[in-house]
Amino acid sequence: MVWRNDQVSEGETKYILNTARDCLGVVGDFVELGCYKGDTSIFLAEILKGSDKRFWIYDSFEGLPEKSEKDLSPLGENFKKGELLVSKREVKERFLRAGLKVPVIKKGWFADFSASDLPEKIAFCFLDGDFYESIRDGLKLVENKMSKGGVLIVHDYNNPELPGVKKAVDEWVGTRGLKVLETCAIIS
Ligand SMILES: C[S@@+](CC[C@H](N)C(=O)[O-])C[C@H]1O[C@@H](n2cnc3c(N)ncnc32)[C@H](O)[C@@H]1O
Repeated sequence: MVWRNDQVSEGETKYILNTARDCLGVVGDFVELGCYKGDTSIFLAEILKGSDKRFWIYDSFEGLPEKSEKDLSPLGENFKKGELLVSKREVKERFLRAGLKVPVIKKGWFADFSASDLPEKIAFCFLDGDFYESIRDGLKLVENKMSKGGVLIVHDYNNPELPGVKKAVDEWVGTRGLKVLETCAIIS
């Protein structure tokens, strides 16, 4: 693995990929909510080589949305509306250049997608939306699609620059009797 990513650390990437590999035997497809330029997506697509699972990736392709009050942190002032903007075409071309199967790429805000925009069942989901409302909306979108034994990883749970992530996850698990393990909530 040649790791190059300004959003997800090398250690986190290894954890994500090892976890995703463990989900190859679980019913359902792989999903990434908040793919940005596709750095983690490319690795996930490599894991899926030879598998009949499909890969679905989602992004506004308009960069980050507006922050809510729950996201405010003096450490996170560099995360601004419109940051992390890439086009859907750029991401698609990256897969083609890498000789990988192009995933289903959906452009839009998490809040505007519905169940029909997602696979029937999800074996592995990586949710990386940086802000409170993005994580809240992403969790709502996928929660009824997760397979038994499937894993949902939420990035930045412990990141003090992005306090809204932890707030959204804690609210979500708190109302559902789930447990958070490090940066991931397991639904089974
Ligand atoms: C930190 S980047 C993702 C990095 C990527 N997962 C990786 O591993 O390289 C966050 C992405 O989430 C997208 N995003 C944030 N909130 C969103 C929302 N509510 N709906 C759609 N996309 C969103 C942004 O456009 C941005 O590309």
